[in-house]
Amino acid sequence: MKLRTAEKVVVIAAVVIAACALLVGALIYLKPPPVRFVYRESPSARIGEMVFRREGCLSCHELFGNGTSFGPVLDGVGSRRDLSWLKEYLRSPRPGLGGRAYRLRMPAYDKLEEGELDALVIYLGALRELDAGGHIMEPPRPNAGD
Ligand code: HEC
Repeated sequence: MKLRTAEKVVVIAAVVIAACALLVGALIYLKPPPVRFVYRESPSARIGEMVFRREGCLSCHELFGNGTSFGPVLDGVGSRRDLSWLKEYLRSPRPGLGGRAYRLRMPAYDKLEEGELDALVIYLGALRELDAGGHIMEPPRPNAGD
């Protein structure tokens, strides 16, 4: 059977479109979006989340895709920092974390009521990162690093 030029173009276009669809399908199948961060919810963490929202932490920070980038992203912060570090930091933060200079300063939350500060710390501690095997990562030991 002999095809005319126009027919050939249609056949080639159909093959190209089918190949692209297959490729996209294969990529989606092979690479599901990685879930790298989790929130280990608990009653105290829920109270902490309320404090977090009320204090407007997302006006400077990003978490689970919400917020802004005036400060570091807080996804997985509970796997990077232990609870005592977080509590101390919220009371008296200092600039110079990470490799970047931030235009805004992290405010001190030393006026928060003790119970609210503890709940906030538990909330931050419940924001964890997953390792390559999907296991929840523990923060470094209290006396390690800064
Ligand atoms: C005015 C902006 C601003 C607000 C509001 C703010 N932060 Fe920050 N925060 C920063 C900046 C900037 C840094 C980084 C400081 C630096 O290293 O220079 C930071 C750092 C942090 C860190 C350390 C992150 C890390 O990777 O170690 C934590 C935790 C944190 N903030 C939690 C909070 C919480 C919780 C709230 C709300 C109660 C809050 N921040 C509100 C600006 C802000």
